[in-house]
Amino acid sequence: MRSRTERNTQADRGDATRLASGASGEGATRDFDFTTADFERIRALIHRRAGISLSDHKRDMAYSRLARRLRALGLDSFREYLDELEKRNDASEWEAFTNALTTNLTAFFREAHHFPILADFVKRRAQPVSVWCSAASTGEEPYSIAMTLIEALGDRAAREARVLATDLDTQVLAKADAGVYAWDQVKHLTPERLKRFFLKGTGSHAGLVKVRPELRQMIKFEQLNLTDSDYGLRQNFDAIFCRNVMIYFDKPTQAQVLTRFEPLMKPDGLLFAGHSENFTYVTQAFRLRGQTVYELTRGRGASPSATSTTSAASTVSGAKTPAKSEPLGASV
Ligand SMILES: C[S@@+](CC[C@H](N)C(=O)[O-])C[C@H]1O[C@@H](n2cnc3c(N)ncnc32)[C@H](O)[C@@H]1O
Repeated sequence: MRSRTERNTQADRGDATRLASGASGEGATRDFDFTTADFERIRALIHRRAGISLSDHKRDMAYSRLARRLRALGLDSFREYLDELEKRNDASEWEAFTNALTTNLTAFFREAHHFPILADFVKRRAQPVSVWCSAASTGEEPYSIAMTLIEALGDRAAREARVLATDLDTQVLAKADAGVYAWDQVKHLTPERLKRFFLKGTGSHAGLVKVRPELRQMIKFEQLNLTDSDYGLRQNFDAIFCRNVMIYFDKPTQAQVLTRFEPLMKPDGLLFAGHSENFTYVTQAFRLRGQTVYELTRGRGASPSATSTTSAASTVSGAKTPAKSEPLGASV
């Protein structure tokens, strides 16, 4: 039987394949012409904006997701949509275009072997701990990181541990920020974790859970494009999670991202990759420690411009307003 991780990765790579075969129903009937030239144009645009390389088998996925934009805008053809997109250069439509083409599959404690490694690592650190989750999607990964930090550090976590969670896609970030999930997404967690970290929805919220404020407050959610030349981050992280996003980038883009990570890591920091991502062939700046966890080859990552973290609370400010959705009530 395949593990959850294997199934997830298959889905990361395979959603377009299913669409192409018509199994999902999406894209089975076409309202609009979709030429090879349209697809090539979409490919070039999303690569330029997000570093995402759409392979040929993503053609049906691109059609079905962007056809929704055409319908929403009342346009008749992909050509018209792409012309408008480029001509108007409207930030919100670019955002919708980008959000439509990202793949956001994730899960709580996905690739579970990483979390005990993170727990052991942070237990041995005397200083405040800051972790960057760089492709956070709908939040399951940064919340899993924060749970691990609380379990490992106990009371220290609230004072001394922070998670910066970023993603390119603003829609998934809004969901992450709200911290509300279907019961099905958390039911595999241990009863201890459910009780400690989630509130259970009642009444109209039945079937939902919401992360507890203690967990939410450790995380700051922000939009960040990994292909930007400057991330605007002026701190060093103890650990960076960059899992299951590099698979969408070509090798030069992967190399550029890793070059930008290097000065953002503490000298003895850890970089966590997705299980099908291998950075050894992309950069010499990081070397594999094992189990898709990397460390700096030189063992010193601080650049002159990056300030060392003296207080996680002050550098990755966790002082976020509570999630905007209604409280869900009773604890799990
Ligand atoms: C398959 S999800 C992986 C989520 C999580 N890291 C995990 O392993 O479960 C990939 C995420 O990468 C994000 N992404 C894609 N291109 C990006 C970019 N250029 N910068 C930042 N995030 C990006 C997508 O929006 C998506 O949420």
